[in-house]
Amino acid sequence: MKQYLQHHEWQIIEEGFNPEYNEISESVCSIGNGRMGQRANFEEQYSGDTLPGSYVAGIYYPDKTRVGWWKIGYPEYFAKVLNAPNWIGIDIAFDGEQLDLAHCKVESFRRVLDMQKGRLERYVTAQFPDGRRVEIASCRFCSIADDEIGAIRYSVKPLNFSGTLSITPYVNADVINQDSNYGEKFWVEVETKTKRSQAYITAETKKTEFQVCTGMRFSIFQNGVKVNFDSLRVHKEKYAGRTVDIKCEKGRETVVYKYAAVVSSLNHEKAELLERCQEAVKRAHDKGFEVLLQEQADAWAAKWEEADIRIQGDVAAQQGIRFNIFQLYQTYTGEDERLNIGPKGFTGEKYGGSTYWDTEAYCFPFYLATADQHVARNLLVYRYRHLQKAIENAEKLGFSGGAALYPMVTMNGEECHNEWEITFEEIHRNGAIAYAIHDYIRYTGEKEYLAEYGAEVLLGIARFWAQRVHFSQPKQQYVMHGVTGPNEYENNVNNNWYTNYIAAWCLRFAGESMQYVKETAPEQYSALAGRTNFKEQEELRRWAEIAGNMHFPADAQLGIYLQQEGYLEKEILTAADIPAAQRPINQHWSWDRILRSCFIKQADVLQGMYFFEDHFSEEDIRRNYDFYEPRTVHESSLSPCVHSILAARLRKEEKAYEMYLRTARLDLDDYNNDTEDGCHITSMAGAWMAVIKGFGGMRVYDDTLQFSPMIPSQWNAYAFKLRFRGALLQVKVTKEQAIVRNLSARHLDIKIYGNLFTVEAGGDLSVGLR
Ligand code: BGC
Repeated sequence: MKQYLQHHEWQIIEEGFNPEYNEISESVCSIGNGRMGQRANFEEQYSGDTLPGSYVAGIYYPDKTRVGWWKIGYPEYFAKVLNAPNWIGIDIAFDGEQLDLAHCKVESFRRVLDMQKGRLERYVTAQFPDGRRVEIASCRFCSIADDEIGAIRYSVKPLNFSGTLSITPYVNADVINQDSNYGEKFWVEVETKTKRSQAYITAETKKTEFQVCTGMRFSIFQNGVKVNFDSLRVHKEKYAGRTVDIKCEKGRETVVYKYAAVVSSLNHEKAELLERCQEAVKRAHDKGFEVLLQEQADAWAAKWEEADIRIQGDVAAQQGIRFNIFQLYQTYTGEDERLNIGPKGFTGEKYGGSTYWDTEAYCFPFYLATADQHVARNLLVYRYRHLQKAIENAEKLGFSGGAALYPMVTMNGEECHNEWEITFEEIHRNGAIAYAIHDYIRYTGEKEYLAEYGAEVLLGIARFWAQRVHFSQPKQQYVMHGVTGPNEYENNVNNNWYTNYIAAWCLRFAGESMQYVKETAPEQYSALAGRTNFKEQEELRRWAEIAGNMHFPADAQLGIYLQQEGYLEKEILTAADIPAAQRPINQHWSWDRILRSCFIKQADVLQGMYFFEDHFSEEDIRRNYDFYEPRTVHESSLSPCVHSILAARLRKEEKAYEMYLRTARLDLDDYNNDTEDGCHITSMAGAWMAVIKGFGGMRVYDDTLQFSPMIPSQWNAYAFKLRFRGALLQVKVTKEQAIVRNLSARHLDIKIYGNLFTVEAGGDLSVGLR
């Protein structure tokens, strides 16, 4: 854990230069707009530790898999969101000497991510080895008002000398992925073009043949006056840049404005890319930096207006939740149904920018409640579009007849993860995809989604489960062998309770959904049944038979469900028994030792209790929580939020708060010692859930929005907004009461602590806190 970032309600502030933490700060202070993203790398050259990262949504490379021995069924490749051509670069030299903070004495340094306004700033005073001192200030953003544009204001001021300043703004496609399997470079140059103050490079990805044109135009001001300059082209491979030499005087500031555009063949014809890029650069340049900056601030203000959570009395908690909401909206805006949410978003290379079950299990509720309904719907449609590939994935493993296995990791629907214990065994992911459909319908009431898209996905998923189980003669029940549950610290187990439970639930839900479509949309039903060759009676009967006769391992004496068969035969310790110096265990213990231990990486049985809370009594949940939480090391970022929500449900206030902070500040405080690889974007939605579903107790049952609010003792009040079925509610919880305000023009019936109330349009409702 590191606590070098300052607490502030709206900003992330790094005061003082911490080269040893630079890669962490680069992750934390990343900027993005759903279409492109950028780590907080310096604009000027830097030879210290850095992970350069510019990413373009949907642009990936299928890097050839590296495994020891090939096994049938392994995916051929691991998809990587590419480190894309760099658009931020501005090299600076004084009298021929490059500015590189790694070779300077850094006298002062301040990096600020302003989440309210959506921009990154940096202020530095540095001294060259020969004593010359300079001041730098930079401000940049990826526009969310115009998502193909980024802009930078970069100023330099010599403090104790005058001389020649060389400024080289550039775009550069000669970039690498640190995680490349074979050290290969993934970009091929297509064309470059430069003019006096402009430079463009079009590059193509090998194999996938995506093209990206990255362009820029710059202007220079001294003492507020625009400088007329000549520039020289810099000749380098896969690079387009211009150098300007100008006089700079002691104490006088030189400001460079760099307007950049990143356009890709995902959205434009390849033949027109350069032209589109030039248009975008011109658009940005003509508006000018200040106008773009204001548009950016306005666009973020509009997002915050609805998505913000305000916490009074606890700045660390406030900063944490805003950071999470900010990063989520920087990663995914929901406007393009081909895109999704990588576990690290645009903040690093890890997890390849691919789609995981994280989206459905964790991110989905956030977008469902804070954005227009089409945003969550787009996330579902994304999986619908991948259904055929999911069927092919299942076929590769030997399943047939339209059984669909959604991938654990994917860019285009194909499985591209290559650890057998995950690819072949972590099949519970299929359940999360079905669960999100259920969640969507429960929240929005839009049951028609089933006939349009949902039922077909559920049918494929149900067919998979129906083939994946087998009947155990000794048990006289259906069982599932050779799986990995959500707890990845245990592989190849039999009867993982969570997997069996969600499989049985899927079979039931799929059956009900098919019946519903048959009754309400008979024409769509026959079309669906025809194209999927659905054998109604036979398949429905088998699904019901399996769901009603599935084996769920349990221990009667302890009154708990067993994570998997034989779990209690392990040496049963608690996480408190692990010496602090050995945590996180995944950075200290051999994999063998981890697998044999009883320690749980992330919610497993408890993940099921969280999803299906209404299937269990409070006592059931408590017993399982009290048994499993102490054995959980929370080494997946996805773990603490589920525990926080359940702890709040059980009124374990202190634990709920501890787990909330751990989720919300996971990257700000680098809890798991891995933020340098990128931020844990998908778990950030878990922090949102910990407030809304945990402390706020928000649920939807029987078409009714419900709250059971509580407040951590550290907070004076908190407030959030939710969209629900055409209404917009603001919920404020103080130490005394919960106040629900209906900000919309339609009344809404809601439940608070189980009692039904009507909140009139524009009206208020207050209920004393319990
Ligand atoms: C977790 C998985 C998760 C993945 C990406 C892993 O560490 O165990 O559940 O899908 O990270 O976030």
